[in-house]
Amino acid sequence: MKDAIDFFISRFRSHLDPPHEPAAYFRPRPYRNAAVSFRKCSLADFDERRRTLVEEAGLNVFLFRADRIPGCDLLSDSGTGTMTMEQWAAMLLGDEAYGSNEGYFELKEQIARTFGPSWRQRPGLRTGEHEPLFIFHQGRAAENAFFSVLARELRRFGAPQAKPLSGGLVPELRTRIEHRMRPMRGPVAGDAPFYVIPSNSHFDTTEGNIADKLMVPLNLPCPEHLAGDESFPFRGNMDLAELESLLASERERVPVVYLTVTNNTGGGQPVSMENIRRVREITRAHDVPFFIDACRFAENAWFIRRREPGYADRSIESIVHEMFENADGFHISFKKDGLANIGGALCIREESAFTKRFPKFANELTDYQIMTEGHPTYGGLAGRDLRAIAEGLRTVTRREYLDLRIRQVERFGDRLRRLGIPTINPAGGHAIYIDVDRFFDGGSRDEDLRGVSLTALLLIAGHRFCELGLYAFGAFDGVREIPPEPRVNNVRAAVPRLAYEDRDLLAAAEAVKLIYDHRDRIPAVRVEYGRDLKLRHFKSRYSFVL
Ligand SMILES: Cc1ncc(COP(=O)(O)O)c(C=O)c1O
Repeated sequence: MKDAIDFFISRFRSHLDPPHEPAAYFRPRPYRNAAVSFRKCSLADFDERRRTLVEEAGLNVFLFRADRIPGCDLLSDSGTGTMTMEQWAAMLLGDEAYGSNEGYFELKEQIARTFGPSWRQRPGLRTGEHEPLFIFHQGRAAENAFFSVLARELRRFGAPQAKPLSGGLVPELRTRIEHRMRPMRGPVAGDAPFYVIPSNSHFDTTEGNIADKLMVPLNLPCPEHLAGDESFPFRGNMDLAELESLLASERERVPVVYLTVTNNTGGGQPVSMENIRRVREITRAHDVPFFIDACRFAENAWFIRRREPGYADRSIESIVHEMFENADGFHISFKKDGLANIGGALCIREESAFTKRFPKFANELTDYQIMTEGHPTYGGLAGRDLRAIAEGLRTVTRREYLDLRIRQVERFGDRLRRLGIPTINPAGGHAIYIDVDRFFDGGSRDEDLRGVSLTALLLIAGHRFCELGLYAFGAFDGVREIPPEPRVNNVRAAVPRLAYEDRDLLAAAEAVKLIYDHRDRIPAVRVEYGRDLKLRHFKSRYSFVL
């Protein structure tokens, strides 16, 4: 008798050449391909992919060979985009002088053009002053440096570690902070980590870097997002009432407040200008620095222009300037809205609430950077990379690029929705999130591994998605699974920039639909290795239960 995988393979095969294309007329793309990369494998080779998945990758999408993917590789939108001809040309012009190469000066100037003139270094730097730009090889290296040096600077002040949480804090927030602190208590034996870094939602590496320095990462997503309000245009916003309560009673514990634009962990949802402005006002009133995680700043600006009253006639550039005028600093991975394959940065405003509170920070950061990444003028990157990033920053704010980019993700989401697939709505800027709980309505499979089953079957169909749910964010305590709190259970399809045409994404949507139609036959999986490891979804191996 055929097993469940054979069943799906025969279905995938019969859907390879549908009699007609989906009826749709799309505006032509604002670019044409200047180079193409032919696939190294055939879409019809389902058995080969099944073998690779089972024998080599242990059903783990991260371990599956990318050159065996004939369809869409939607594992991440980070560093996976197609660069423009201008970027490739700029790379050829890059020079590789050890320090202060041409790319550095070009990038410094471009940062000021993109994020606003207030990010330009004042001419004639004097002793004790610093450049706003610190370069790193990618976003998490910038986060690691920032929070390492911040933890050191906070130790210099001694500050409020020993004091209990104030009675003024709203009970819900107190519970959340204590919940977050619980697993951190062990390693510090009584020296409880009492600094708190709030955000609308931290990305997982940001959260990891904060927790690693024994500070508490605290997410304050807005109530509309938590309620699943699909009509709310800015589901990435921060809960301002919670921020106000935190700073009113715990200001001493909060060295910096963060906003992530767009909010990746919260479904790639945008943050409104109004929310950015209010966060600035609240932090200013309490004299607390305000930083932005700027990875998808241009996509966020596009949503402000489209959805927020008063911005429809504004240029993307001017919206970006307004967003960043409000911040004391920001960090960015250029692998997203830098349109580059590598690179990151930390920018700190010279005269700001942050430098006032931590006057030695820039100097300490420079030392850290020299020890870990290299001279601040290249920060772990080749001079050629710096030129590609500067060029990418010039392209990313172009209206026609952003229209194409975000509408393509929207069309992909619409298509899935029309096929009946439960997704987080409205679509975010860079990815579609399939709601695994609703996908398996009434199913009886091993609950925490359903997302893993789905991504494994999608790989056999020829497309790579990523489980970001009960397995990725949950933990195993030796006896049972502890689900993430609040509960998240998604499979994400992140769309690389300028890499796919709509028909590729429609093919991926069809594969999801086929599996959805037979969801009662989706085989369970079991974990063969890694259930109790940290960051386990990157490393675990699984097998089908057939
Ligand atoms: C919001 C956000 N912050 C930080 C990062 C880390 O950037 P990188 O992958 O360059 O280390 C990411 C990466 O996906 C991200 O989405």
